[in-house]
Amino acid sequence: MLLPAILACLAALAAAFSNPLACSGTCTDTHDPSLIRRTSDGAYYRFATGGGIDIYSSPALTGPWTYQGEVLPSGSSIGNAGSDDAWAPDVHYLGSTYYLYYAVSTFGTQESVIGVATSATMAPGTWADHGSTGVQSVTGDDYNAIDPNLIVVGGVNYLTFGSFWGDIFQTTLASNDLTWSGGAPYNIELNTTSPQPSEGAYVYLSGAYYYLFFSSGSCCGYDTDMPAPGDEYKIMVCRSSKVNSGYVDEKGTACTKSGGTLVLGSHGVVYGPGGQGVYLDPTYGPVLYYHYVNTSIGYADADKLLGINKIDFSSGWPVV
Ligand SMILES: *[C@@H]1O[C@H](CO)[C@@H](O)[C@H](O)[C@H]1NC(C)=O
Ligand SMILES: *[C@@H]1O[C@H](CO)[C@@H](O)[C@H](O)[C@H]1NC(C)=O
Repeated sequence: MLLPAILACLAALAAAFSNPLACSGTCTDTHDPSLIRRTSDGAYYRFATGGGIDIYSSPALTGPWTYQGEVLPSGSSIGNAGSDDAWAPDVHYLGSTYYLYYAVSTFGTQESVIGVATSATMAPGTWADHGSTGVQSVTGDDYNAIDPNLIVVGGVNYLTFGSFWGDIFQTTLASNDLTWSGGAPYNIELNTTSPQPSEGAYVYLSGAYYYLFFSSGSCCGYDTDMPAPGDEYKIMVCRSSKVNSGYVDEKGTACTKSGGTLVLGSHGVVYGPGGQGVYLDPTYGPVLYYHYVNTSIGYADADKLLGINKIDFSSGWPVV
C-alpha cells in the first residue's frame, strides 16, 4: 500500500505546475504564439497561427492585448496550398529589423515551405513578404518543413524546424537571415515511437546550455477528436552545451532516441499546453509562453488561450 501511495504523491508533485499569469484583453487567437517586445517603445507584440498571421499588441506582457491587423493580409507569396493560412510564426529582432519566419503547409502533409517577412516596426502594413527561405519539404522527405525557429550563435543563423516525419531538424540560413545556406538539414530530436509526435521546437540559451523545447502529442481539434489521456500536447525539453547536436534529457537519454523531460503538461483547467517559446522579459525575467485550452471554457482551436509562466533555469533544468 505504501509504495503506490508514495508513487501517487510523487506523480502529484511532478504535476504541480503553476497556473499561467492572468491575461487581459484578447487572449484567444493564439495558436503557436510568438512574442516579442518592440525596442522603440517597449510595446509587446504577439503573433499566432492562422490566416495572414494576426498581430496583437499590448502595453504589458499580461495585457490588455488588442488586435492590430495582419502580417500577410493577402496571404503568403509562396504558391503552395495553405498560403492563405500561414502557421507558427517566430519573430526576432536582428540588426534593426523584425524578422518573422512562418510556415505554409496543409494539415497532415509534408508539402511544406518555411517563409519569412520583415518589418521595421511590426505594425500592420509595414511587413514585406520575402516568400520562401528555400527550406522546404515534399512527400517522402526525411522531415516536414514547418514550425521554424531561429537562433543566432556566433554569427551563424541556425533554423530549427520539423513536425512528425522524423521530428526536429536544423539547418542554417545565409547571413542575410532570409535564405537557406544550402547546408543539409540534420536531426536533433526524434521520438522513435509512432506517430513521432514532436513539433514546435524552440531553442533558448540560458547559462552554459542550449535548451531545446518541443511540443509532444496531439495539438488540435480537441473538441471533435479528443486524444487519449496523456496524448494531448505537452511541453518537453532537452539540453546541450552545443546548439546543433548532443541534446539529452534530465536522465541523460539522447533527444534523438526518444529523450525529453516534461516542462509543462495538462493540469487543473489547463489542457494541452504547447506551441511554446521562451522570452527574456525585463520585468518577469525568462518566461515560457504557449497556448492551452481552459477546460471550463472550451476545447476548440478557437478557444486556445495565451499562457505565460515565469520559468526558472537555476537548477540547470527549466521549471515553471
Ligand atoms: C513519444 O511518443 C509517444 C507516443 O505518442 C508518447 O507516449 C511519448 O510521451 C513521447 N515521448 C516524448 C519524449 O515526447
Ligand atoms: C478558466 O476559465 C475560468 C472561467 O472563465 C476562469 O475563472 C479561470 O481563471 C480560467 N483559468 C485559466 C487557467 O485560464
